[in-house]
Amino acid sequence: MTATPNDLQWPTHAPVYGAIRLRQFEDGDIPMIEELATDPYVPTIGSLPANATTAEAQSYIDRQRCRLAEGAGFAFCVADRQTDVALGNAGLWVRELPHGRAGVGYSVAPSARGRGVAADALRALAGFAWTIDGLHRLEARIEPWNTASVRTAETAGFEREGLLRAHEEIGGRRVDLLMYSLLRPDNRSVTDN
Ligand SMILES: CC(C)(COP(=O)(O)OP(=O)(O)OC[C@H]1O[C@@H](n2cnc3c(N)ncnc32)[C@H](O)[C@@H]1OP(=O)(O)O)[C@@H](O)C(=O)NCCC(=O)NCCS
Repeated sequence: MTATPNDLQWPTHAPVYGAIRLRQFEDGDIPMIEELATDPYVPTIGSLPANATTAEAQSYIDRQRCRLAEGAGFAFCVADRQTDVALGNAGLWVRELPHGRAGVGYSVAPSARGRGVAADALRALAGFAWTIDGLHRLEARIEPWNTASVRTAETAGFEREGLLRAHEEIGGRRVDLLMYSLLRPDNRSVTDN
């Protein structure tokens, strides 16, 4: 049976993979969000203002906590599995769940980069995603210059399908986006028969 966005529940056990766990955002994550907001690209792909103040970081966290109730999806904080220190964010966006699809997104705070945190987060996110009834396909849309994100998606098993031309406006420009997807492990298309 296919779930609808309104049926979804926050996981009872935090999804984990490698060195990270995915959990709810907490007020103590404000310093990580403030650091994320210093990245020139992150504010162009979400609702976090550039160089966010403490109040703006708090509002961002409050918005993430409402995403599931709004039917948008799961806005996870990526945290160190041992220390629980916040390292970044990872989202599973479910508006297209009635069609069997969901989108993914991720960012890592600059000081936590360079050790594969996003790939671990994406694998934890995918493991959780396959617990949702009726979800068959995860999609990641990535700008072609963004090698770190391309490597993250490929490490997590996503495959490149093609280029969506002038697909979206990011940072005031109409940009091309690579489409990467990951299929449910037991997925079979009619052509496999
Ligand atoms: C994309 C992002 C989440 C990856 O963070 P991370 O987990 O720390 O990634 P890493 O630094 O460990 O790099 C992952 C891979 O990319 C490679 N890489 C990283 N930066 C690179 C660069 N500038 N040029 C080429 N390769 C790069 C690494 O060598 C590594 O390769 P490997 O898998 O072959 O070892 C992070 O760069 C980020 O938050 N960027 C801004 C937000 C963003 O772009 N989000 C994704 C939107 S689609």
